[in-house]
Formats: sequence, structure tokens, C-alpha cells
Amino acid sequence: MDYKFEIAKLIKIDNVSFEEILPLVVTAKDTAPADFAFPCFKFAKTLRKSPVIIANEIVDSINKPQFLESIEAVNGYVNFKLSKLNFVKEVITKTLELGEHYGDSKEGEGKTICIDYSSINIAKPFHMGHLSTTIIGASLYKIYKKLGYNVVGINHLGDWGTQFGKLIVAYKMWGDKDDINKRGINALLEIYVKFHKEAEEKPELNDLARSWFKKIEDGDSEANSLFIWFKEVTLRDVQKIYERLDVHFDSYNGESFYNDKMQPIIDELEAKGLTKISNGATIVEFDESEDMPPCLIKKADGATLYATRDMAAAFYRKNTYNFYKSLYVVAYQQNLHFKQLFKVIEMMGYDWAKDMIHVPFGMVSIEGEKLSTRDGNVVFLEDVLNTAKSKALQIINEKNPELENKDDVAEMVGTGAVIFGALVGSRIKDISFSYDKVLNFDGETGPYVQYTYARCCSLLNKIESTGNINYDNLISAESYELIKLIDKYPEILLDSAAKYEPSIVTRYIYSLACQFNKFYLEQNISNSCEDDKAARLAVVKVVKDIIKNGMSLLGIKCPVKM
Ligand code: ARG
Repeated sequence: MDYKFEIAKLIKIDNVSFEEILPLVVTAKDTAPADFAFPCFKFAKTLRKSPVIIANEIVDSINKPQFLESIEAVNGYVNFKLSKLNFVKEVITKTLELGEHYGDSKEGEGKTICIDYSSINIAKPFHMGHLSTTIIGASLYKIYKKLGYNVVGINHLGDWGTQFGKLIVAYKMWGDKDDINKRGINALLEIYVKFHKEAEEKPELNDLARSWFKKIEDGDSEANSLFIWFKEVTLRDVQKIYERLDVHFDSYNGESFYNDKMQPIIDELEAKGLTKISNGATIVEFDESEDMPPCLIKKADGATLYATRDMAAAFYRKNTYNFYKSLYVVAYQQNLHFKQLFKVIEMMGYDWAKDMIHVPFGMVSIEGEKLSTRDGNVVFLEDVLNTAKSKALQIINEKNPELENKDDVAEMVGTGAVIFGALVGSRIKDISFSYDKVLNFDGETGPYVQYTYARCCSLLNKIESTGNINYDNLISAESYELIKLIDKYPEILLDSAAKYEPSIVTRYIYSLACQFNKFYLEQNISNSCEDDKAARLAVVKVVKDIIKNGMSLLGIKCPVKM
């Protein structure tokens, strides 16, 4: 039931419309004595009455409906208290009925959202620095789907640039086909690093690399088949990680896809008089008030840039998907790039520039160490997932050595811990990753939530009830708090989508699990009469379903036993 709406309908004031009243009905803070309040101050002038009198008159005019416990006038406010019994009954009935569809929405009907996330670079390792873009993007993808949007997940591969020329030279000199097919990215990386070392002594290798890159550009068949093979090797490798993280894409159109799609845009920029030549390069300058350096469109040698490709990609996405919004889940280091990109498109006169949104996030460090490719301090995401898994297995062996499918459970717990740990803070905050922290079964962690889920499953498995739900049993303090949280789930999903913040869902699931555990301690589920038992088990079932659903939106699976 939409209480705000129903309450607003009860309030009648002369010459004031429902539309004016509705936004004034506010939810009272948790500590306030009322659940909803309506302030009367605004009407004092026109009605020539004090707010106290207006509030009293409103109270007198209302015939209290069943869903309200009380209606009171207090200092110019009308306070509405919900009937707890009615509330718990309504929430539990509704959520039981909807099951996994609880929280689904029509909000997104007919709207398409493009999400650019993960967007890895070919022949480069999938390292810890890619974790956030990958899982924030994938989670937004799932949340928008749940809200009824049509979502397009895009992996804008970094598959263009002179590094491919270097890779070909390296491969031709030291590469071993079978080894690369077997060891994938790691083998490619080794020869790439070797190229850089050798090129310090022999700079002519760089010229050779440039000429091979030129061959790729010119469509030479040997160069292209190597280029395509490097891409396949990389994608095959990262696919394993994507599967573990439950990440999917609808498009892998990367930078190279836009090779033939940039010129019309450059022409249009020129035709609209937006470009300038500076030292031979084509640039777009911004108004001084923007306080931004110019955007480089074409280098003096005619080569296009990352930004040029992103321009072409933006147009391609608009023309292909006619997006309602187009998100870019990319680290805050690229703030300037996206500001420039969006501004140039706005200057071209396209009002959909406002629908492109950069969703930035903070940096990840592991137990205090910075992760950077330069000083060779790369931490592979796969290694992190494997370590988390083996640590999870250790914990399971201590806590529950008899558990079946220990390996599968350890995978769910380990990977879940890493994902949950990366999503629990606001995305813009830097993350200092620690295995102990994310795997702490008593902390604000994935394993804590998974453990709560397994507790729900085991309660439902062990205890049976043939009774009818006695709702009177559910209005005690711990239970009522829990049901209030259950009621919030749909609102939480909408809020996290609106703010591009999976952390809102993550923290919500954690609070739900905490409140459930308080409820569990307070209520003796197995030792109660049938109807009370039925009521408590209904709550267990609902909480279990929300945890499962919420965790799946983050890309985390929950084991039935752990
Ligand atoms: N491959 C880029 C990088 O690793 C990220 C690409 C983000 N997406 C985009 N459309 N620019 O920095």
C-alpha cells in the first residue's frame, strides 16, 4: 500500500488540491512518535487560522481507517501512526506472494540504458584495478534489468594502438604459438615486457613495431590475423573471470570497431566550425568558463585518439540503441576525458549529451600497497579470487569440516567476499582491500550475509509448520523493525539505480541480515505454537528470498549450507 498516497487522500483542506497535499506528507524520522506527519504551517495565512487549529480540524474531519493506529494533532502537525498489525500483515502477504519478483518495477519500461564497464585492454593482464568497473557495472546492469529497463552491457575493448605492432614484433622474435595458446595473457605479457626491455637498447624495434601497426591499419592479412588471435586469447582468458564474477556483456565492440566511424564525425565538427589546427593537430577548444584544456581529435600525423574513438562510440550507441541514458563506469582518473567528450557533443548541438553519465569510482589498493603496472606491482584478479577461495576453504574446514561440496561453497564464499568487499563502500571512496576484512564472518561482509542466508535455509528445512500465520506475533520490536526493512527493498533498488550506487543495495542486505539475526535471537522459532511458528517462518522465508535476490544483483551466489 502506498501510505503516503492513502494518507494524503484523507486530508481535506478548503481550496487546496490533492496534488498540493501529497508532497507535504512526510515520513517521520525513526525516532519521532509518528510514522507520517503533515505540517499545517503553510496554510495559516490563506486560511487565516493558526496551524494548531488547522491540525485539530483535520484530525476531527478524518474517519480513522483500519491501516492507521492513531491520528493526532501536535503543535501544528498532524501525526499519523500506522497500525502495526495491518502493516506487518500487508508486507508479509505481499512479499510472500511476489517471491523473487519482489522489488521488480515498471520504472524502466520502454527505456534503454547503455552501460560501458570493464572495458579491458587486449593483451594486458586483468588486474585488481579492473575489479571495480567490472562489478559496479555488472551490478548496475542487473539492478536496471530488475527495474524493467532494457539494458545493453558494453565491453569497450582497448584493442587499438601501437602496442599491437609491438606485440607482433615480439611474437615474431620470441613467441611460441603453443605456449600462448596454453598460457594465454601471461605468455603475451612476457613477450611484451621483453620487447620493452630490448627496445631500450635497440630503438629500431620501435620503428619496426610502428610499421607492423601500420600493416594492421592497412588490412594486411598476416598482421590482422595475429591481431585477431591476440584478441581471442585475451578474451578466452578473461571469460573465466567474468564467469566467476557472474558478469556478462551484450557487445564487445571495442576501440578498433570505430576505425571507419570517426571521419564523418570529424567532418561534422569541421563543418560546424568547432575545430582548430594547432601545431598540425586538430583540436576542439572550450569556452574559458569551462576551464578545460582542448580536446585532441587528430594528431599531426593524422592518427586518431582515444577521445575520437569515444566520440564515434557515443554516436554509434545513440543511433543503434537510442539510449535513455548511457553510462560509463570508469575510474575518476578519466574525469577530464569524459567531461571533454560530453561537452564536445553538446557543442555539436546534440541535447542527448546530457544523457551520458560518467560513473566514477575510487582506487583499489591491497593491504595498503598501491597497484600499478609501471613498477611491476600488478596483482592479478584471478590470483586474488584464488587466494580468497583457498582462505575461505580453510575457514570452512575449521568451522564445518563435514560440509558437502566444500570446493563449490569456498568458491561462492571467496568470490562473494571479494565482490561484497568492493561494493560495500560508496563507489567514489578508495578501497583498501584486505583478505581478513572481507572474509570476516562477523563483519560487514559477504560471508556474514551468506551465513545468514544458510541459517534461513536450515530453519526452513528443519522446522515445519501447518498453522495459519498469526500476525499478532510479528509486532514485537525486533520483528517490527525487520518487517519495516523488508518493506524498504523496492525503494532501495530505485534509490541505488538513481544514484548509480550498488553500495546502497549492498549495505541494505547487510542491515537486513543483521536485523534478521536479532529477530532470530529474540524469537524462539521452533518452540512456539503452530500459528506463531507459521508467522515466524513466513518472515524467514521472505528474508531468505530478499537476501538471495539482492546478492544476485551484486553477482554473488549464496550456498544453502555453509
Ligand atoms: N580501456 C580503458 C582503460 O583501461 C577504459 C575504457 C572505458 N570506456 C570508454 N568508453 N572510454 O582505461
